[in-house]
Amino acid sequence: MARNSWMLLGILLALGGCDRPPSADNLPEWTPKDHDRVEESAKQRPRGAPDAGSAEALVEATWRSQCAVCHGPTGRGDGPNGPMVKATDLTNPEWQQKTSDADIAGAIKNGKGKMPKFDLPEPVLQALVARIRASKARP
Ligand code: HEC
Repeated sequence: MARNSWMLLGILLALGGCDRPPSADNLPEWTPKDHDRVEESAKQRPRGAPDAGSAEALVEATWRSQCAVCHGPTGRGDGPNGPMVKATDLTNPEWQQKTSDADIAGAIKNGKGKMPKFDLPEPVLQALVARIRASKARP
């Protein structure tokens, strides 16, 4: 009886050994060269073609994930944490008028008061400035 159990276990182990997906062995090994290939093909994208990684696409994602929690969806300072930190109403025409693009970029890059600094790629930074300018409320 005990002998049969060991045999059964042996069979199960043998079967278990065949459980791997057979194709995995046939896959070519990934090399750092493949990484370059991916980046190169992205660079060769024709001009004007939609690009999910563009600054325009990134800026909305960045705003929603990094800024809206304080400044709100449109920048009025009405995000969930807006009142607590007294986030600036970025749509305020008076504020817009007295603030330069460099001030805006500087505040994002270096932080200001209770606002943390954000280390963003330059095109995203500039696109955020443009987005803030476009959100200016009509007086
Ligand atoms: C933790 C909350 C918080 C987050 C997140 C945040 N801000 Fe702010 N932001 C503030 C506060 C508070 C101020 C007011 C700072 C002050 O004047 O002391 C401010 C001010 C600003 C100003 C005005 C600076 C000036 O010169 O008066 C800009 C522009 C701005 N934020 C843009 C952004 C952008 C863009 C993001 C996302 C990348 C962002 N903020 C994320 C809290 C936040």
